[in-house]
Amino acid sequence: MILAIETSCDETSVAVLNEATICSNVLFSQIKHHQKHGGVVPELASRLHADHIDTVLKRALDDASITLSDLTHVAVTVGPGLEGALLVGITAANALVQSLSIPLVPVNHLHGHVYAALASGDMIFPSLICLASGGHTMIIYMAGPLQFELIANTMDDACGECFDKVARMLGLPYPGGPHIERLANDGRPTIDFPHPVKHQANAFSFSGLKTAVMTKVATGDYDSADIAASAQHRIASVLAHKLQLSLQSLPVNQLILCGGVFANAYIRQYLCDALPIKNTLIPAPKLCTDNAAMIGLAAHHYIADGRAKDAYLSCHPQLGLSFPGAQ
Ligand code: KG4
Ligand code: ZN
Repeated sequence: MILAIETSCDETSVAVLNEATICSNVLFSQIKHHQKHGGVVPELASRLHADHIDTVLKRALDDASITLSDLTHVAVTVGPGLEGALLVGITAANALVQSLSIPLVPVNHLHGHVYAALASGDMIFPSLICLASGGHTMIIYMAGPLQFELIANTMDDACGECFDKVARMLGLPYPGGPHIERLANDGRPTIDFPHPVKHQANAFSFSGLKTAVMTKVATGDYDSADIAASAQHRIASVLAHKLQLSLQSLPVNQLILCGGVFANAYIRQYLCDALPIKNTLIPAPKLCTDNAAMIGLAAHHYIADGRAKDAYLSCHPQLGLSFPGAQ
């Protein structure tokens, strides 16, 4: 029985897993507290995590119908993320493992996004992963469990960040992705936004798209829904094109699409239609965005790989942790 804790950004989340089966996945979203500031305020995020972690933890245990004494491991996100926010989850995890004398499993948040796919089916290797979130846009090759090779990364903004900035320019609230998706349903992708570094297999760039939207908005002559539809379409076609380039040079049996941006139905469908791979795993939208169940799913594999730490070895935020990122 794994208790997993995720507090890397603006969602306070705790999940309980029995091996790789999700028994509960409770989430307190801080979004409405950050919205008036137009983005996540790190100090406010830490305070809100500290205020809510106890109740979220209790509900996760209740929903799974277990008590603390049933736990065998506590898993926690150690990075990448906001330092103060991570610290709240890590402090809770350290306290739990020390009082229960059970092992601690420090988890890389990005590995969590990838392993969220396990809730939709088995992983079949080698697999090609596209991870698109508010902080990252990457293509990763996995030859086997926990074997990550970074194939492509963004040179500037992440694609979720691009959604958020475009939304802000159109006067929509944070986080912008879901609002752009809704608005795009009323528009047509008539604007041919740029596709930077098109022929470079190892790099994404989204800042040009952001600038092009800003330039269009500055003319005052635009239809918001058409901008939303065109930007969403361009992001989908950029992701599809880059994955196609990787597929040309790598043997791949499965495609995994993960991270908050893949909560977007248009992008999910576009990639499934555009790519010549039958076996595709995409987490349900609620498991694409940040949640603790994905941290528990990664922890399940870490434990099998011998990565659990003794209870007395307390852990701390690993801010420089990126991808592939060891432990
Ligand atoms: O994975 P995630 O919850 O957090 C990070 O690790 O960053 O991703 C959050 C990002 C935000 O930029 C948000 O706008 C985007 O995912 N997002 C979406 C949608 N839902 C969330 N982007 C496009 N369409 C959506 N429906
Ligand atoms: Zn995330």
